[in-house]
Amino acid sequence: MQKSIFSKIFTILIVFGYISFIFPQQKLQKGAHGMVVCAEPLAAKVGLNILKKGGNAVDAAVAVGFALAVTYPSAGNLGGGGYMVIHLKNGKNTTIDFREKAPLSASRDMYLDSTGKVLVKKIQESESSSGVPGSVAGLLYALEKYGTQKREIIIQPAINLAKNGFQLSSETANSFKYMLPEFKKFPTSLKVFSKNGEPYQAGEIFTQNQLAKTIEAVKKNGRDGFYKGEFADLLVAQMKTNGGYITHADLEKYQPVEKDALQGSYRAHTIITMPPSSSGGVALIEALNILENAKIKPEDFASSAYYHILFQSLKHVYADRAQHLGDPAFFTVPVTGLTDKLYAGKIFKSFKNKATASNKIKAGKFTAPVKESEQTTHFSVIDKDGNAVSVTTTINSSYGSKVIVEGAGYLLNNEMDDFSAKPGVPNQFGLVGGEANAIQPEKRMLSSMTPTIVLKNNQPYLIVGSPGGSTIITAVLQVITNCIDFQMPLAKAVSAPRVHHQWLPDRIDFEKYGLSADTKNALLKKGYVFGETRVLGLVEAIMYDASENSFTGCSDPRGSGAAEGY
Ligand code: GLY
Repeated sequence: MQKSIFSKIFTILIVFGYISFIFPQQKLQKGAHGMVVCAEPLAAKVGLNILKKGGNAVDAAVAVGFALAVTYPSAGNLGGGGYMVIHLKNGKNTTIDFREKAPLSASRDMYLDSTGKVLVKKIQESESSSGVPGSVAGLLYALEKYGTQKREIIIQPAINLAKNGFQLSSETANSFKYMLPEFKKFPTSLKVFSKNGEPYQAGEIFTQNQLAKTIEAVKKNGRDGFYKGEFADLLVAQMKTNGGYITHADLEKYQPVEKDALQGSYRAHTIITMPPSSSGGVALIEALNILENAKIKPEDFASSAYYHILFQSLKHVYADRAQHLGDPAFFTVPVTGLTDKLYAGKIFKSFKNKATASNKIKAGKFTAPVKESEQTTHFSVIDKDGNAVSVTTTINSSYGSKVIVEGAGYLLNNEMDDFSAKPGVPNQFGLVGGEANAIQPEKRMLSSMTPTIVLKNNQPYLIVGSPGGSTIITAVLQVITNCIDFQMPLAKAVSAPRVHHQWLPDRIDFEKYGLSADTKNALLKKGYVFGETRVLGLVEAIMYDASENSFTGCSDPRGSGAAEGY
């Protein structure tokens, strides 16, 4: 797989993150009353203030979501979508699917040229690449149903940050600078993210007046402030001028969907995660179910024997993902079959001592599928009562489609690339798919986002999630196994080097220091192929220690985020 632009940008952001790690901000925090962990420190503070003023975890999460749209424009968003997993103090678990949707005028081959080739620019860049945004509707749905505070209070910090501006960190200033050549292709974005084409410097105040007005409209009119009226007109007009597909009808019809949480178990822990339209939860539970068959001791960490089992498991998981996962409103996803422990046991039993080539591994067959009741950033929140929220949200690539809506000041997603534009042709994350994830009007494109809450004795134990496209699933999986199997404290579990296999391409990607020469040689002998050394995910996690009644928050040292607790 060629290193995609997403991968390059992600790497550069991460490198800046490492620089900030040398001068760490609030990476690791302890607190007895509440905790917020996210990819940008100002947004984390917004969430903490809401908790301190008596808001619950949902209030804080929604405030963080709006704040990130201002302070973390590479991935925080109004113009994207996401998923929220909620565990309430009364034991109820639920999820909100606010993934973007294909516009009403979408069709299966809309991104193919006359010879059947995928039009990569059209599906990855500019207005043509955008799905109907879901973030505003989804965050407001969560606030109205599960929050306790008024919309005005929750949204005001984001408005203040946009209107009054904030001091640019070196990471954000550097990422604007790095993106300048891209923004130069899109004048509306160049206007916002540069000073007449000259890069911002760290420490300068960055204001976003248009964005402030859009968020003001949401504060005043709720979802109608975004999906109807002046700001909807601006979006639709820009779509018409520049070959995009989103219409007023698309905006008015958009609804988030509340869905039962997907539930699994792993060695006496309960896994609460996201059902389809994300593949993340199903893939995570399938992987954990397979691994549960292995006896894993803490000293097995990073051993070739453990990695062999992990990679063999992941090949099956991603083969199943490609074949069976899509928006359940359009395609019957065999969730029960895929997350069945017996199915996982059969896969585990099939493992040999050697690597099985990916082309020899096929997705599982589910003859009678049961009809089931489906650049990115993650934030985790817990409050004093034990309400826990895990949110992953995305505009897909770093800075999404790269296009700002003129007059509205927010970036549009390029999420149409998460559909399978053509069976078997990889998207920017190297992921392949087929019928299950083919483009259809109003369908949600498949995601890998895996916001998850792990319960121990029915109480939140771990709140976890990550960006990283196809590597989200493996990043979340490894943090969970690091905590449960390898008994690492949270900071170690998050910072430990990660590895990745996604069936196709048939190769292991790994982080620097992730594989010793011994381990690599042993895996080579088993028949594995090695791919890129790259950064794999950016985890924002909280762990609860019931014996101390305290929370530990950890923002991944690979990034420049923060944990804020009290
Ligand atoms: N856009 C990345 C994902 O949803 O998986």
